[in-house]
Amino acid sequence: MNMNRGTTLNSGESAPRLVEMLDYLHGKYNNDIARDTRQGLAASQKYIPCKYFYDARGSKLFEAICQLPEYYPTRTELSILRDIAPELMGTFAHKDLVELGSGGNLKIRILLDAAGESNRATLRYIPVDVSESSIVEAAQDLLERYPELQVLGVVADFTSQLDVLPTERPLMFCFLGSTIGNMDEDDSIAFLQSIAGNMKPGDRLLVGFDMAKSKETMEAAYNDSRGVTSEFNKNVLQVLNKELNANFDPSHFDHLAFFNEACSRIEMHLKANRDISVKLESIDMVVEFKSGETIHTENSRKFTKRSIEDMASRAGLCIQKWCSDRDGWFSLVVMGLNHSSWAKVAHVT
Ligand code: SAH
Ligand code: TRP
Repeated sequence: MNMNRGTTLNSGESAPRLVEMLDYLHGKYNNDIARDTRQGLAASQKYIPCKYFYDARGSKLFEAICQLPEYYPTRTELSILRDIAPELMGTFAHKDLVELGSGGNLKIRILLDAAGESNRATLRYIPVDVSESSIVEAAQDLLERYPELQVLGVVADFTSQLDVLPTERPLMFCFLGSTIGNMDEDDSIAFLQSIAGNMKPGDRLLVGFDMAKSKETMEAAYNDSRGVTSEFNKNVLQVLNKELNANFDPSHFDHLAFFNEACSRIEMHLKANRDISVKLESIDMVVEFKSGETIHTENSRKFTKRSIEDMASRAGLCIQKWCSDRDGWFSLVVMGLNHSSWAKVAHVT
């Protein structure tokens, strides 16, 4: 079931370097998407799990979202990362840097730059993602920038396949972009617990959290004026068309994103703009939509210091360091199995 292969990445004029890729998703993806879609579209509130956003087109659209003026989380997290990178990476050597849900490489480059060339030559970067294309592209670019770096790409589902990751070397896990907010509370605690189960004393986990703020600011981030988020949301229908031989017409659905105050989360939906009947050939399913009915496609929870502390303690993790921007819009939190001597609170500008 798991495929181990080398992908040749041709870096310009110089000799091509081989990036080791492990694919643990192969075969599993087709089963999962069939099962999850059958279950999600039969529910009374229809839903599609958000990991299916990220085919090659979805991954590109997500990178475009990160550049949008309304989408503040990426630039805010980048500014905090730049600030703490020297402290995090100055002595980071002979270790593995494991990034869960890696996507593009903008953020990890800040950490790798701060490590410096001599540390980098002793490190291994392990991007883990369901999107093979984004791992390959990110790895290709990293090898061109840092010829001394070792990269092991892992195509896997981080919610169910963390056990495939190598843990024999000291390591730091990174889980950035507030991807943790796309899980519900119980799932995120179970997920943090399973990461903790893969950590040794001294290992670290760096998690990015988008913090609760004004409703206008948060809603604008998921309703950009150029409609990129809408395209991204609707792309999941094209994924189902391709993978399950379905006949969704994306123009029959409208993008809907709003802040649900009671749950402290942005909800994204696709709302049918007419009565629709859709056929999904591969899973032998017909789904009816009434005009106005929605498919719930994603949650993006917004956190408070308290909600993060609560999650960490329920997962058995100690918070070693807090880093936020001056406005408190985003937090990067370093966790570990034990407390450390690091300063507990750091506000960076
Ligand atoms: N870390 C990047 C990308 C965040 S978007 C950033 O901070 O900007 C979320 C990423 O997680 C996407 O690249 C998506 O393909 C990946 N992803 C989503 N669900 C996943 C899952 N269950 N297992 C592995 N990767 C997943
Ligand atoms: N983790 C990101 C977030 O919750 C994912 C994301 C950003 C997203 N924008 C999106 C997902 C738009 C779907 C649609 O902010």
